[in-house]
Amino acid sequence: MKRTTLDLLACPACHGALVAPVDSGSAIESGVLHCEGCQKYYPVERGIPHFIQPDQLTGFNRRFSRMYDWFSWGYRAFSKIAFAFIGMSEEAGRREITDRLEPRGGRVLEVSIGPGVNLPYLVNRPDVGEVYGLDISLGQLRRCMSYVRRKGWEVDLFLGNGEQLPFRDASFKGVFHVGGINFFNDKKAAIEEMIRVAKPGTRVLIADETEKGAKGYEKTIPGFTKSFDGKRAPIQPPIDLVPPEMLERRVFDAWKGWFYCIEFRKP
Ligand SMILES: C[S@@+](CC[C@H](N)C(=O)[O-])C[C@H]1O[C@@H](n2cnc3c(N)ncnc32)[C@H](O)[C@@H]1O
Ligand SMILES: [Zn+2]
Repeated sequence: MKRTTLDLLACPACHGALVAPVDSGSAIESGVLHCEGCQKYYPVERGIPHFIQPDQLTGFNRRFSRMYDWFSWGYRAFSKIAFAFIGMSEEAGRREITDRLEPRGGRVLEVSIGPGVNLPYLVNRPDVGEVYGLDISLGQLRRCMSYVRRKGWEVDLFLGNGEQLPFRDASFKGVFHVGGINFFNDKKAAIEEMIRVAKPGTRVLIADETEKGAKGYEKTIPGFTKSFDGKRAPIQPPIDLVPPEMLERRVFDAWKGWFYCIEFRKP
């Protein structure tokens, strides 16, 4: 993690400032971040600050962090195959969402970055500044870290829960999420957090599978059906959880109706 990223970070529990070990290096590869507000400690391992302890997660967050830890080996290939099945290129599908971001040179945050499958459509885009990614699965993040290092990209990654982001208010000019929110423990908290960390004027995008997409997952992802013990409520895009004061609120079909995308602008 870049040392300068400390200026963006906040304790996910109390939003207090975090302090890193004193060191002259420009990157923090290991050590411990300390919250001056509530005195919590967050370890940094292999360049990734850990803002959650996976064994303390509950409910769906626990199930999915474990499922994605395991499935991270195949996720990238799965994504390619899924787009082939839908009948579009992965680039066209990913750009349907990422091209809607309007960061105007500012920082972009992907909540639930997985192994970094959206990064090729963001990094080096002229209107995108620094890119940051958070995920609840260390397996996914480690793959993402190897990928960005291989590419020589500077993308800081964080192990955390989308419902309690470890960033200061109004830090990003682009905030987006693809593929996980339907089964977060607390979708409302996650949406409020994406809004909190966005600067005023920022467009926020939140996409996940429709009922049609979920049925496709059930047939193809090992463990997906088991996660619900065979029963789950039909999927509805959580547009009602977006506060009414958000501007330009809309939901559109993405990926030929396999995904929905909620879009709005923070006033
Ligand atoms: C289907 S993958 C999507 C990956 C990538 N964003 C994409 O577009 O393909 C869903 C991701 O959501 C993450 N996830 C699940 N629950 C989460 C939570 N509560 N907070 C943050 N990430 C979460 C999973 O670990 C997984 O990497
Ligand atoms: Zn704190």
